[in-house]
Amino acid sequence: MEIIEHVKAMRDWSETQRREKRRIVLVPTMGFLHEAHLRLVREGKRRGDRVVVSIFVNPTQFSPNEDFGVYPRDFERDRRLLEKENVDVLFHPSTDEIYPAGYQTYVEVDRLSRFLCGGHRPGHFRGVATVVAKLFNIVRPHVAIFGEKDYQQLQLIKRMVEDLNLDVDIVGHPIVREADGLAMSSRNAYLTPEGRRAALSLSRSLRRAAWLVERGVTQARVITETVRAEIEAESLATVEYVTLCDRVTLDGIDEIYDDALLALAVYIGKTRLIDNTILKP
Ligand code: PAJ
Repeated sequence: MEIIEHVKAMRDWSETQRREKRRIVLVPTMGFLHEAHLRLVREGKRRGDRVVVSIFVNPTQFSPNEDFGVYPRDFERDRRLLEKENVDVLFHPSTDEIYPAGYQTYVEVDRLSRFLCGGHRPGHFRGVATVVAKLFNIVRPHVAIFGEKDYQQLQLIKRMVEDLNLDVDIVGHPIVREADGLAMSSRNAYLTPEGRRAALSLSRSLRRAAWLVERGVTQARVITETVRAEIEAESLATVEYVTLCDRVTLDGIDEIYDDALLALAVYIGKTRLIDNTILKP
């Protein structure tokens, strides 16, 4: 596995692969890899000839009060994991390489970034869209893979690619969960054992919502209130939002007629976790 730290070297590598007609797949990450990231990598291996994984903890997607400084990092471990997956390139640029002095250009996906997490993390999706657009321009992948755990991020990137005529196929990967239902996340590392138990209320509440819908409940308010109550029964949990919305536009809905997204964000102590599911009436 090649480790590339500079934009120029990354571009040169991709240029060579493209000249040789190899299909390049990019899996963007912020590192501290877990099984879900590796599943995205394996999906990448199936979809192309060369896989590039980027590890870059992107400062522009964190608000000043968020966990950028303490976001978990373990480059050596990540490197070993990716080596075992036969990844071709690990792209690991420094912050200055991506945002050199004088940097001032940002990508804003206007409407989609207002809902759900966007309403609670001002500037977050502007940072995400910007860094992903830059990664696409630096790595020049044919395909890029994103997890459905960050459902809004995935929709926003699809929109950006469409709106800016970027030449990349965006592939979504289903949420990867622990055996007990907890969606995998680098931030799960922050959880205490009690927090870990309380965090199970997220996936449990989503299953309960699916059960309600199977039994004919269609009112959004009934569904979101049930989910909220299930989570708030945990003393460590504070709900940030529980929202039922259109799965493409993310506009809120009052009643389910068609497949809809149920998405939530919850603090377990100081750890912010997200999860979601598609409800099918
Ligand atoms: P990060 O949180 O490291 O996630 C990298 C990719 O892994 C994302 O596409 C995310 O959706 C996916 N992922 C994480 N946990 C998952 C799970 N349990 N199931 C399925 N997919 C999962 O998301 C980011 O980084 C950043 O915002 C990034 C896109 C790299 C831009 O900085």
